[in-house]
Amino acid sequence: MKIIGTGSSLPKKVVTNDMLSEFLDTSDEWIFPRTGIKSRFVISDEDLVQLGADAARKAIADAGIDKSQIDYFICSNVVNEYMTPGLSCAISQELGISAPCIDINCACPGFIYALDIAETHWLAGKVHNVLIVCAEEPTRMTSWQDRSTCVLFGDGAGAVVLSDGNNVKGIKLHAEPDVSKIWQKRRLMPTPYVTKEEVEVPLQMMGREVFKFAVNASTTEVEALLKEIGMTKDEVSYYMVHQANMRIIDAIKKYLAEPEEKFPSNIRNHGNSSSASCTILLDECNRKGLFKQGDILVFSAFGAGLLSAAAVVEW
Ligand code: COA
Repeated sequence: MKIIGTGSSLPKKVVTNDMLSEFLDTSDEWIFPRTGIKSRFVISDEDLVQLGADAARKAIADAGIDKSQIDYFICSNVVNEYMTPGLSCAISQELGISAPCIDINCACPGFIYALDIAETHWLAGKVHNVLIVCAEEPTRMTSWQDRSTCVLFGDGAGAVVLSDGNNVKGIKLHAEPDVSKIWQKRRLMPTPYVTKEEVEVPLQMMGREVFKFAVNASTTEVEALLKEIGMTKDEVSYYMVHQANMRIIDAIKKYLAEPEEKFPSNIRNHGNSSSASCTILLDECNRKGLFKQGDILVFSAFGAGLLSAAAVVEW
């Protein structure tokens, strides 16, 4: 397939590190050097359905196609206010489209997992125009009394329209299943038969373990994928790395021995918006006119699961 349109949508509320320090025992002096984050967009009165639909509308307009031409829609999302139906159904209703749609919950690498599903369906001859929306509100998952997690995240939605083309050069997916590293639990409705104790627990994360996994998974997969498809790092124009933490991105840069200018970043003003991160960054770079035809973009993302993925896409 080929990316023919991008879009993104952000909540209007901007929360700075200084604002967090008004109610949390934290500071810009602690957060910024350890994460690269200065501020993040946080959902207040918006609904994630609206943000996802807004990002999709912009991507469809950028693609220059009519919404009726979308023949498959994949939505990447970890949590939203609906347990059912899937967020893809709610966004489809808002958009006024009726293409088959599915939700995936692959956390931060969700965009690349969605890209893999789109490309596989296209190779099977089943689809022509696929909409991917990555819509996330991780600020609704953390405890806002837990300074070790809530300072890291921001909300938003990014969207991509793919169409016929041979621009997806390779995709590598990876799993190291271990729920103890990043997890959250919700309590389901009681029944007369449930005897186990169920608990509601906000997002928990083993920060240092996740850090190591992220750097290792990203560098290993990027190098292996480039080798597999017969490309070298010299041919890569930009690394579109999941915006989780500037120190993770810096470590990846160092291990790959690639220059600063190949790593566009927006973490300073966004924080970690889970799977929306790569697509929001992609849209911002696209709208700034950063990419030219033929540029090679390497996507790399990692997160809960533990899951990670890399993809090479020609612009
Ligand atoms: N403000 C002030 N102090 C904080 C703080 C905050 N926001 N968060 C944690 N601290 C404190 C801790 O309480 C601890 O204090 P103590 O030594 O008195 O117990 C100290 O800082 C060190 O905490 P620790 O968790 O060991 O810090 P760290 O150096 O590992 O940095 C992260 C924490 C989260 C920044 C870092 O582990 C990280 O970036 N991990 C990757 C997380 C990530 O990106 N996950 C998503 C991937 S998709």
